[in-house]
Amino acid sequence: MPGLVIVGAQWGDEGKGKVVDLMAEQADAVVRFQGGNNAGHTIVRDGEEFKFHLVPSGILYPGKTCIIGNGVVVDPSVLLGELDGLSRAGLDISGLKVSANAHVIMPYHIALDHSGEARLGKNEIGTTKRGIGPCYADKAARLGIRVQDMLDEKILKKKIMAALEPKQLMLRPYERDPAWAPRLDLQQMTEDLLTFGHRLEKHIADTSSLIWKTLDAGKLALFEGAQATMLDIDHGTYPFVTSSNPVSGAATIGAGVGIHDIDEVWGVAKAYATRVGAGPFPTELFDATGDLLRENGHEFGTTTGRPRRCGWIDLVALRYACRLNTLDALVITKLDVLTGLDTIKVCTEYRGADDATFETFPYHQSVLHRARGVYEELPGWSEDITGCRTEADLPQAARDYLAFLAERVGTPIVQVGVGPGREQQIWTESGQTASKLRPTANA
Ligand code: GDP
Ligand code: IMO
Ligand code: MG
Repeated sequence: MPGLVIVGAQWGDEGKGKVVDLMAEQADAVVRFQGGNNAGHTIVRDGEEFKFHLVPSGILYPGKTCIIGNGVVVDPSVLLGELDGLSRAGLDISGLKVSANAHVIMPYHIALDHSGEARLGKNEIGTTKRGIGPCYADKAARLGIRVQDMLDEKILKKKIMAALEPKQLMLRPYERDPAWAPRLDLQQMTEDLLTFGHRLEKHIADTSSLIWKTLDAGKLALFEGAQATMLDIDHGTYPFVTSSNPVSGAATIGAGVGIHDIDEVWGVAKAYATRVGAGPFPTELFDATGDLLRENGHEFGTTTGRPRRCGWIDLVALRYACRLNTLDALVITKLDVLTGLDTIKVCTEYRGADDATFETFPYHQSVLHRARGVYEELPGWSEDITGCRTEADLPQAARDYLAFLAERVGTPIVQVGVGPGREQQIWTESGQTASKLRPTANA
């Protein structure tokens, strides 16, 4: 005790990295529990920007145990690249631990992710093409290569051969492609993985027991979600989802802890909404306001650089996320991006194809695809809020906007972001009772 889970409450890129970095100061361990390098988490420290795809967002604090849990899919070359970058920047990476049971993203997973998207044509999901889906598919089919396998040549080769067998037909075009062929060669893959394994050996560990030690000593373990609720493979907008469970419940499975180890769950949401990749997005804006949010919010993917689709905040989806994740508190980020708008729209319900309105998130795909937001309008503000450090510094209209969100979602807001810097995060008074983790002096 205690365990704090921080998850995305929308479609990803809500600013989870920033919130985790801020809370990591109090934590002993920071744990990624699902996803892979499809994630892109940005932290801005003293004006310097760090982007992490696999390494947990606590790594900037020397001495913290930063864990890549068993539920994560690991591309070892990406992980080593990130670690090399951190070492070059003079940062201490000795606390980084990788679960021996985490699954490895292989070159053939990346090829299959490309081929799957190509086959879907214009119905493509818009994956990050990092091999995430094919890797989780192999895990479920019991054909996966695990981190521990990188340490044993005999086992490794046997497992790669078994994994390649059912994929031969699909991989054939890639094996003939000079750009892919060397990466898909069995001998080359085995050698590369052994080299990666050798380099990673000192980081490979029984990570669950490390987390138990933290929790049993009464220290804070932070569970850092990647992707987000609406991209959850079971509860999101299937099939336009990722291949893991980014919801809070998955922290237990993906880290190896029990449900009683979790004391608090926070959901991170932007003051508006974005989505990258295809799929239903009922509050999407196709006009100049959408462009303005993209420009002001720098809404371009951290991982792929794609422009993010932008829209108004969606309280139907947010209420669903609150219930699904049992959120104790919300963190609202990027409030500063709304500055300058005369009015701000908030989606409070959906209108379906039959013109009827409803307030709960539809479980049926066809209903969701046709749903459009129904809005209430709130007054905007024009004051620059990036220098605000307490709730009282915010203009009344911004405070009213936050109060409206908290009231209509039924969940208190614990922190508000007014800029990318770690000092630009306000602890709210209203959220004081929602979290035991608020430092006594206002940060
Ligand atoms: P994550 O994937 O949830 O960690 O989020 P990303 O890092 O992909 O995207 C969030 C972006 O918003 C990053 O560039 C952050 O630096 C930035 N950001 C986070 N919080 C705020 C905020 O309150 N205001 C502004 N303007 N930017 C923010
Ligand atoms: P963070 O952790 C936003 C999206 C992709 C695509 C879908 C499936 O930075 O919030 P995948 O490669 O996972 O098979 O792609 O999921 N997606 C994300 N969108 N933020 C992310 O991560 C995402 N990770 C995956 O764009 O629509
Ligand atoms: Mg991101």
